Amino acid sequence: MKSANIKELVGQALANTLQTTHGTPALSVRDLEVAYSAANGAAIEGVCLEAKLGEMILFVGPNGGGKTTLLKAIAGIVRPLRGAVSVLGRDPYRELWVRKLIAYVPQLKELSINAPLTVRDLVALGRYPHLKPLKRMNSHDEERIQESLNAVKLEDIADRRLSELSGGQLNRAVIARALAQDAMIYLLDEPFESIDHPTEKLIMEILAREKSRGRLVIVTEHHITDTKEFDRAVLLNKRIIIEGRPDEVFTEDNIRRAYGIVKSA
Ligand SMILES: Nc1ncnc2c1ncn2[C@@H]1O[C@H](COP(=O)(O)OP(=O)(O)OP(=O)(O)O)[C@@H](O)[C@H]1O
Ligand SMILES: [Mg+2]
Repeated sequence: MKSANIKELVGQALANTLQTTHGTPALSVRDLEVAYSAANGAAIEGVCLEAKLGEMILFVGPNGGGKTTLLKAIAGIVRPLRGAVSVLGRDPYRELWVRKLIAYVPQLKELSINAPLTVRDLVALGRYPHLKPLKRMNSHDEERIQESLNAVKLEDIADRRLSELSGGQLNRAVIARALAQDAMIYLLDEPFESIDHPTEKLIMEILAREKSRGRLVIVTEHHITDTKEFDRAVLLNKRIIIEGRPDEVFTEDNIRRAYGIVKSA
């Protein structure tokens, strides 16, 4: 399966969509523990979670609560110390090809703006999983790049360098890169940081559209945000405090349990 191209992968993922209607999750996290060092102990532990394609899920928790760590484990970027992550039936840490179906949008603080890239160059990176070795982009790739720039309303500054963008513009550029990837699973780490209200609304609409196209969308936030587009919420502070419908999760008691004591890893 190592050399499968993206069309086969998406085909397989869509076949999985059918399976999900019979109960096979697109994402399965079992008893997950991640630690960055033995001295500091676990960043997250005992995390169990399942999700289907076509769902939109919000991870909320305090600073240091493990949201980024959980997203990175789902994206196959960090290795579990214990437990397992399965994306579309595969281990994303070991099987590189499955990562092509995952669009990971890092938190602003993790982005390097010093790379000599324009906004368009950054968005074009989203097409690389689709390219055959040594092949140039074709007109379809160029179209997807342009559509993604238009979707986040960055077409007018597509040729600007990343170092010349505001925080909110940079955030929109990485979201455009994710859109250009045509992924099955979106993992967005605090996509609303540094973003004004109309842009937040725009991004929420984009994500809701991806959900309605059968994509799984997972978003993190460190404070409780507008939850009406989300099917489910997960309150996380090292462990899952509670998960369920947003109105069931964001009760005063649960919020106190999650935010009352911030456990350092
Ligand atoms: N690369 C790293 N090396 C060592 N420790 C780390 C690393 N990344 C995160 N940690 C630690 O793991 C724990 C969880 O961090 P994580 O970044 O996942 O939390 P978070 O919920 O995303 O926080 P924030 O809301 O501030 O983004 C914290 O205690 C943090 O200090
Ligand atoms: Mg984080």
